[in-house]
Amino acid sequence: MERIISGKPREEDTVLEGSLRPRYFEEYIGQEKVKQNLRIAITAAQQRGEALDHILLYGPPGLGKTTLAHVIAAEIGANIRVTSGPAIERSGDLAALLTNLREGDILFIDEIHRLSRTIEEVLYPAMEDFALDLIIGKGPGARNLRLHLPHFTLIGATTRFAMLTPPLRDRFGAVYRLDYYDRQSIDEIVRRSARIIKVEVEPGGVAEIACRSRGTPRVANRLLKRVRDYAQVIAEGVITEEVAKEALASMEVDELGLDEVDHKVLRTIIEKFGGGPVGLDTIAASISEEADTIMDVYEPYLLQLGFLERTPRGRMAAPLAYNHLGLPYNQCKYYEKKGPPQASLW
Ligand code: ADE
Repeated sequence: MERIISGKPREEDTVLEGSLRPRYFEEYIGQEKVKQNLRIAITAAQQRGEALDHILLYGPPGLGKTTLAHVIAAEIGANIRVTSGPAIERSGDLAALLTNLREGDILFIDEIHRLSRTIEEVLYPAMEDFALDLIIGKGPGARNLRLHLPHFTLIGATTRFAMLTPPLRDRFGAVYRLDYYDRQSIDEIVRRSARIIKVEVEPGGVAEIACRSRGTPRVANRLLKRVRDYAQVIAEGVITEEVAKEALASMEVDELGLDEVDHKVLRTIIEKFGGGPVGLDTIAASISEEADTIMDVYEPYLLQLGFLERTPRGRMAAPLAYNHLGLPYNQCKYYEKKGPPQASLW
């Protein structure tokens, strides 16, 4: 199940994000360094009358990679075609996309790490030489045909930088990492979104939502929307600190934005595996979640908080995690004295 704190997009986000999404850099809050570098790259390309270099955006889900691609397109006044790694199944699909581009257009490929090797091979000459190599015919009579493509800009987005093959990585002129937003930026995003969806929110309400949003705009906007429902039905429409606290408590999102799955991940490592190290697949299997979801959605934030450590032998819970869960740190000594907790499925 997709959860409220997940940075992965959910159906309800599309309507919400459509209107909340900033369209130009001026409206885009946070990620100052990335914005500054992009602004310079755009201006330089425009001064030279050239297409922008290919750009790779990476970072955890929900931080605005797709939004940024649209902002770049709007800033240079270019068309943007949006697709994703898993949607491009055959080389013909990619060839169709590429041959329909016009000079200066942007091709946005989300989850680019999920492109197959065969498709990647089509992409290399397209990125490097703006050429599409086709093979006509079969067997000894087969011929190579090279089609010229317009100068386009590829913007790739991924949550898994390490899964990109080096030849693909090397073909991007610029690589930007999006980080979790700082508190001030998230506050500002909550206030901006509240203005757009026309809900009154007091400073205490902003703070409550921001604290629990995992530094992720998509989560902040989703929480804001749910708190607004709560305020509308129970509290005359105004999001006060109290209203936000109650609403968020009813969603089981704790004061750091951790939900039930985060808690399960940490408790499993600590209580079932003595604090770790334990492999990701083992953790996933013991809490019935997908390893990919844990890796993309849960782990990055737990690592950032300093609750989790990645070691060559597996994941370990860090002292801060024990503290947050109210568990004694020295588990081994704890076990010696009291014996391990009784195993139980529930
Ligand atoms: N909504 C989602 N992401 C945003 C951002 N970075 N700035 C402003 N509004 C947003």
